[in-house]
Amino acid sequence: MNCPIGVFDSGYGGLTILKELVKKLPEYDFLYLGDNARTPYGTRSFNVVYEYTLQAVKYLFSQNCRLVIIACNTASAKALRNIQQLDLPKIAPDRRVLGVIRPSVEKVAEITRNGHVGVLGTSGTVISESYPIELKKWSGGKVKTVVQEACPMWVPIVENNEIDTFGADYFIEKNIRNILQKDKKLDTLILGCTHYPLLLNVIKKYVPNKIKILEQGEIVAYKLLDYLTRHPEIGNKLTRNGKIQFQTTEATENFENKAALFLGREIKANNIHL
Ligand code: DGL
Repeated sequence: MNCPIGVFDSGYGGLTILKELVKKLPEYDFLYLGDNARTPYGTRSFNVVYEYTLQAVKYLFSQNCRLVIIACNTASAKALRNIQQLDLPKIAPDRRVLGVIRPSVEKVAEITRNGHVGVLGTSGTVISESYPIELKKWSGGKVKTVVQEACPMWVPIVENNEIDTFGADYFIEKNIRNILQKDKKLDTLILGCTHYPLLLNVIKKYVPNKIKILEQGEIVAYKLLDYLTRHPEIGNKLTRNGKIQFQTTEATENFENKAALFLGREIKANNIHL
């Protein structure tokens, strides 16, 4: 029986995480689920994001995933804690759900030299204050100031494949200018949304070279490898045939075309209902 690692995002963004997971853990099986029919999550309320994310996690459990990575900052910020603390003990005490915020926060503490950190994210992630709270908690006092900027147009730009357009440039330049004005001493900028690495070429045009831009894919992959080594009770139950499946709540044709663009190779997807 196939026992893949579940990777969940509201849409395409989680593919930036999946790509790095596959690079670091090529022998494992993965099942990617994009809730493209209901994306974006970033502008939705706490309760809605929690409900949608829990549905996705339950679905991935039904597909035999013993470990699920929430490859979405918005869902990690708004749903992960409740799922871990309230739902898992009831529905699947022997399974695990991990997010993307904690690994990123730990990495920032290693990188920043002056403790001035900026976070770019969806409105939901920014309003949740998850990054400032977690950065204070897990950086061992290294992070002194955290400024945030909500970038509500960036996910629709990615989802609608408007990356190489004047519109993308306009919104990205505007949000970067805003965050740079909020703290003139910024030395580290977190791309706190898994969609944003797909905009990296444009983002880099407006961020001064001295500021380190932190992408999450590689960090999450490294942390997962470490987690599996420390938790053989989970790792040993996962199958390793190097098989990757893709599922979407939207039309498969759209998903296959765009995912191929983002991953740089052809893929086949199945449509599912949550
Ligand atoms: N990739 C999700 C994140 O990391 C995007 C959220 C959305 O759907 O708005 O936050």
